[in-house]
Amino acid sequence: MGVLHTFIFLNFLLLCCYIHQSHSTSPPRSSSLPGRYFKSLPSSLRQNESSEYTEITRPLPSDEFSPSCSLLILQHDFGNTFGSPPVTTNYSAPPDCPGPWSHVVLELRASCHGEQYDRIAGVWLDGIEILRTSTAEPTDSGIFWKVRKDVTRYSSLFSRSNLTLSVMLENIINDVFTGVYHVNISLLYYGPNKARVQSGVPDRLSNRKLGPSMEEETLGFRSKARQLMFISNEPGIRSRMEEPADLVIPISSNGDDGFWFRIQNESDVHSKLIQIPLNTYRAVLEIYVSFHGNDEFWYSNPPDSYIKQNNLTTGRGNGAFRQVFATIDDVLVGSQVVFPVIFTGGINPLFWEPVVAIGAFNLPSYDVDLTPFLGMLLDGKNHSFGLGVMDGISFWLVDANLHVWLDPKLSSVQAKSVIYRVPPFSVERDSEFEKLDGSFTVEAERKTHFSGWVNSTAGNFTTHVHHEFKLENSIKFKKNGMYKEVHQKIKTKTDVWLESDENGLRTRAVFKRKYPLRIITQTMPGIDDNTYLLVTNVSNALREKFSMADFWTSTSNTQRSGGWMLVQDHSVLSGGAETQQTLRYKDDFSCYSRTVTGSNGSLLEDNTTIGCALLS
Ligand SMILES: *[C@@H]1O[C@H](CO)[C@@H](O)[C@H](O)[C@H]1NC(C)=O
Ligand SMILES: *[C@@H]1O[C@H](CO)[C@@H](O)[C@H](O)[C@H]1NC(C)=O
Ligand SMILES: *[C@@H]1O[C@H](CO)[C@@H](O)[C@H](O)[C@H]1NC(C)=O
Ligand SMILES: *[C@@H]1O[C@H](CO)[C@@H](O)[C@H](O)[C@H]1NC(C)=O
Ligand SMILES: *[C@@H]1O[C@H](CO)[C@@H](O)[C@H](O)[C@H]1NC(C)=O
Ligand SMILES: *[C@@H]1O[C@H](CO)[C@@H](O)[C@H](O)[C@H]1NC(C)=O
Ligand SMILES: *[C@@H]1O[C@H](CO)[C@@H](O)[C@H](O)[C@H]1NC(C)=O
Ligand SMILES: *[C@@H]1O[C@H](CO)[C@@H](O)[C@H](O)[C@H]1NC(C)=O
Ligand SMILES: *[C@@H]1O[C@H](CO)[C@@H](O)[C@H](O)[C@H]1NC(C)=O
Ligand SMILES: *[C@@H]1O[C@H](CO)[C@@H](O)[C@H](O)[C@H]1NC(C)=O
Ligand SMILES: *[C@@H]1O[C@H](CO)[C@@H](O)[C@H](O)[C@H]1NC(C)=O
Ligand SMILES: *[C@@H]1O[C@H](CO)[C@@H](O)[C@H](O)[C@H]1NC(C)=O
Repeated sequence: MGVLHTFIFLNFLLLCCYIHQSHSTSPPRSSSLPGRYFKSLPSSLRQNESSEYTEITRPLPSDEFSPSCSLLILQHDFGNTFGSPPVTTNYSAPPDCPGPWSHVVLELRASCHGEQYDRIAGVWLDGIEILRTSTAEPTDSGIFWKVRKDVTRYSSLFSRSNLTLSVMLENIINDVFTGVYHVNISLLYYGPNKARVQSGVPDRLSNRKLGPSMEEETLGFRSKARQLMFISNEPGIRSRMEEPADLVIPISSNGDDGFWFRIQNESDVHSKLIQIPLNTYRAVLEIYVSFHGNDEFWYSNPPDSYIKQNNLTTGRGNGAFRQVFATIDDVLVGSQVVFPVIFTGGINPLFWEPVVAIGAFNLPSYDVDLTPFLGMLLDGKNHSFGLGVMDGISFWLVDANLHVWLDPKLSSVQAKSVIYRVPPFSVERDSEFEKLDGSFTVEAERKTHFSGWVNSTAGNFTTHVHHEFKLENSIKFKKNGMYKEVHQKIKTKTDVWLESDENGLRTRAVFKRKYPLRIITQTMPGIDDNTYLLVTNVSNALREKFSMADFWTSTSNTQRSGGWMLVQDHSVLSGGAETQQTLRYKDDFSCYSRTVTGSNGSLLEDNTTIGCALLS
């Protein structure tokens, strides 16, 4: 509760500071801009009908089939929920279509009208997070949207009964913020014998080897060695190549204010004691992350020296490097530099209507393969699993799920951790500034290598996990702090290979991601003393490449936005904006591409191409 109160207090503090500032004639410096806005555009500028918002994603692998059954598991209106515990309901597996399922899809539908900030939300089943999402900012005439996520990897959970489903969506309703979020959550279950959708079958069916042959192919992939692998965040790949874990164990808090841990600073590491079954032959930690408050735009935070020497009041400092890390018994076992998801009130809210930023409705989670550490975990004792944020400031919402695969033929397996290589962290920071103008750079990289063997029914396999990342961040302030330019490049590579003791069989999976980001913001005086004009460009991309033996996928999701807005305090009075997005996906037998352009609240272009021949 203390934390919640501090948070609410900080919010009002920010608000009051800007109200004070609005009496001065000069607009705020780039470093002191709120970053988070809500829209109060007059309705005459808008469409009068409720409009649909969307995050551009690839169709789910199950979309060609009709579900065997679906279950509406929650229907709730999130009004003034701030400081309240999550909303809960009981979950039991659908009696009319019991598992195993080939796919399970979570569908969240939401609607809202009025004025409201974007809000963060989480969905947990038995304390296990299955979706991290954020809301779109509403308009007077109303908006609605739908989030669909492949949640097949949690199948072991969905087949249980009498579980508590919890949803946290902290919203504030008062005279200014009137938007109530109406939310429905359903689960769609696809039987093992998938029935094709009769109408609206996408054309790509004819281009692809699907149907029964896909089943066969899927099975064909599951050689013993491959079954042991698990490395991907891409739901498509996962559902096609992976058996869901036998058990999912939450690394989360007790749930009174959501099951996520609220991380306030670097030393604020949260942990949970976990005992894993002795017959575990594989373990993967899935980390859910979102960043808020002074770290919502961590990639654009200057060092504290800049803030201090210029007597700025902003708390958005501590430089522009963050890394989420996981520990077991206080030993580092994995880390991830995370993708910068921009929420719908971020930078310029007009960019994100009706197409929201990459990941805003379905934040990516990050997998860390812990199989090399089974040697230290399989001792029948409790171990402390910790989560923290290097260089983090208030606040981050982080929790994790430990996916474990069990050997059904054994009550215990043997394992040993063999290699633990964590070189010193390399980070270089440069800082040059005079008054409000200057330039700051951060370069960080690290390569880790963990390995260990597990001797189970499948044989004696050694798992090597190599992970490396590189981050380059540059922030420039010009024109007396009224112009700000942020460039960031993040590259990560996870390379997992399996070696069999017997025949040296090697299976290798490589997963690479790149997150290039550029933001340019110019602040200018508005027409009235208490308004200012912001002209902004953002380009953000998420590129992923996955390969394993002869199977590969490549995804490139790029957004470019430009526009302006007239702002008073946190409120957007008018503006014009355009966002162009291109999503391209390819794998060894299919291609998908979609290009959209959103402008001033409507979709100007939406062009989908299916089939590889039509693409380059
Ligand atoms: C919305 O309706 C109002 C009043 O009916 C009208 O004045 C306005 O032009 C309409 N706006 C749009 C964008 O159609
Ligand atoms: C869930 O089930 C328990 C008993 O099984 C019951 O006491 C409780 O009221 C139920 N909760 C909801 C939200 O339906
Ligand atoms: C939720 O479901 C109810 C009942 O089917 C429906 O009336 C309502 O419109 C739905 N709400 C949303 C946001 O989809
Ligand atoms: C779920 O709870 C109800 C009521 O407590 C009980 O009757 C039922 O047997 C339970 N189901 C399972 C699968 O445990
Ligand atoms: C970090 O956050 C924790 C939890 O809020 C707090 O108790 C601690 O004092 C903070 N440490 C520092 C160095 O700020
Ligand atoms: C910051 O405040 C100190 C003390 O009030 C003052 O000496 C200094 O000139 C100020 N610096 C700037 C850049 O305004
Ligand atoms: C592990 O910790 C839990 C509490 O977190 C406790 O209930 C349990 O008894 C412990 N088990 C062992 C084997 O120490
Ligand atoms: C473990 O390895 C040994 C020697 O390689 C083998 O004989 C034994 O069957 C294996 N144990 C299990 C549980 O698979
Ligand atoms: C499993 O393989 C590793 C590496 O070849 C070897 O060092 C270890 O002794 C083997 N374990 C068993 C139980 O055979
Ligand atoms: C910024 O966005 C605008 C569109 O609003 C575009 O015309 C302009 O070229 C962009 N500038 C840069 C530097 O990308
Ligand atoms: C969007 O609105 C701005 C400002 O009103 C205008 O300059 C721009 O032409 C509009 N764009 C489109 C595509 O209508
Ligand atoms: C859609 O994309 C295809 C391929 O890039 C192109 O040939 C076609 O003209 C586009 N259609 C529209 C309506 O933009």
